[in-house]
Amino acid sequence: MSRLRSAMNKGKRVALEATETPRKKRPKTAVKREETTDASSASSSYHMFSDPADVVRLRSQLLNWYDKEKRELPWRTLAVTQSDLNIRTYAVWVSEIMLQQTQVATVIDYFNKWMKRWPTVQDLAAATLEEVNRMWAGLGYYSRGKRLHEGAQKVVSQLKGQMPRTVDSLLKQLPGVGRYTAAAIGSIALGQVTGAVDGNVIRVLCRLRAIGADSTSPAVTEALWSLANVLVDPERPGDFNQVMMELGARVCTPKAPQCSQCPVQSHCRSYRKVHVKQEQNSKKLLGKLDRKTSNLPDIEDCMNSGTCSLCPSEPWDDELGVQNFPRKPAKKPPRVERTLTCVVIRAGKEGEDEYLLIQRPNKGLLAGLWEFPSLLLEEENSEMKHKRVLCGEVNRKLGTNLTESLLQYVGEVVHIFSHIHQTYVVYSVRLKDGNTQTQTENMKWLSRSALQEAAVSTGLKKIVKLHDFVDTVKEKPSKDGKRQKQTVLKNDKKLQTSKKQKLSAANSGGRQLSLSSFFKTVKEESC
Ligand code: ADE
Repeated sequence: MSRLRSAMNKGKRVALEATETPRKKRPKTAVKREETTDASSASSSYHMFSDPADVVRLRSQLLNWYDKEKRELPWRTLAVTQSDLNIRTYAVWVSEIMLQQTQVATVIDYFNKWMKRWPTVQDLAAATLEEVNRMWAGLGYYSRGKRLHEGAQKVVSQLKGQMPRTVDSLLKQLPGVGRYTAAAIGSIALGQVTGAVDGNVIRVLCRLRAIGADSTSPAVTEALWSLANVLVDPERPGDFNQVMMELGARVCTPKAPQCSQCPVQSHCRSYRKVHVKQEQNSKKLLGKLDRKTSNLPDIEDCMNSGTCSLCPSEPWDDELGVQNFPRKPAKKPPRVERTLTCVVIRAGKEGEDEYLLIQRPNKGLLAGLWEFPSLLLEEENSEMKHKRVLCGEVNRKLGTNLTESLLQYVGEVVHIFSHIHQTYVVYSVRLKDGNTQTQTENMKWLSRSALQEAAVSTGLKKIVKLHDFVDTVKEKPSKDGKRQKQTVLKNDKKLQTSKKQKLSAANSGGRQLSLSSFFKTVKEESC
């Protein structure tokens, strides 16, 4: 422990020295005054912490809880044991990028493997994007890995191999690093005194201070950052930010929050509100609360609620309790898209089937990933037309003269991205002659085993699974001894069940799977 502490202190000293605008170390009880922003001036002190003694108490309650309850996570260990500032900053950067939209439990293994393979920013810069993508397979959103790679190359080529040393320079210099990520890296790796507001922290702060206006609005965003900057412990900023995240992930959860386990329940305005409401309701039931009193504003409420930019615009819902906070605007419905795709197969040299893959552009959705030849379907068309355009696309890519009658309809696969409801309309074709050696930078033939390790999307994995399923059923004669017609399969109950299983397997634990683990999971599920 003493080693850890001294490493941490050493890190902090370095970090303080390295800060562009050096700040004086604040005394332990220091409480930064709230910065007056439009947001905080428009809201009442009800949503802030006006008593410095409350802030000091809250910090110590949170940090005591963290010291007892925190999960030992590899990037946390590295942040306190690694004395090389460059490696420490790099490691926390990697962990923060992996943790964007991926759960802690999934990230642990990826982080360990990554750090073993590329222990320094120089090692990562020397890797190829293909290697990075392969390592990233299963973490989702490959663009995050790509940005890490680009960032590492920039650090090596433009920053003399030195990771940025302040929140501002992290934000300015590293692609894919926004306000939260810069603050998290700066506080955890460099000991910089800044709050860090991510999704978990938004929830914790909104509940603590009964902030019920749209949590994505500029007024709420600024108020939350201002609060986080006031609350952060100047002695242990990284731990403080991590305890806020930890509390949001394990206690102050979106659903079924564990208020009885919360170390800062006594500071929580929404917890208090639930109890005041319950008391009022039982008094009302017993007829002990007259009309006049029940309509008066509660002393526990914001005094400016009519004009306050942080108060909810919607009425309190008794059934939701503390989950009245935070409030988000209704999500935009996802864009609906249909894409034609063709599984093109040829016999490989070793007798193993090979699949034609095309690389997606380096920008945009699924940037740089490999997929089957595909075309966005602009309007609904007949199967004949689908086959014609897909056949044209494959011929264009391969320089072949395939006729559309060779294409077979396989079925449909639905894949839901955060903002797109995508349906792949899948066809397949098996090439007969060997005149398909075409291999370019953006086009390659992969054996089944190579495909399993390649950087491909979850949508492609689902297409492969459907293709396999249809192939198996095609081979299996039905009860009357006849072969089943492929087109029947689209509405086949068995396939629908299997599709559901596939979806649940693909989304298991909210993470993406590598192709091999995907197949394994589906197999296990169908046993
Ligand atoms: N989510 C983002 N950063 C995290 C961290 N350092 N620990 C746990 N969860 C996190």
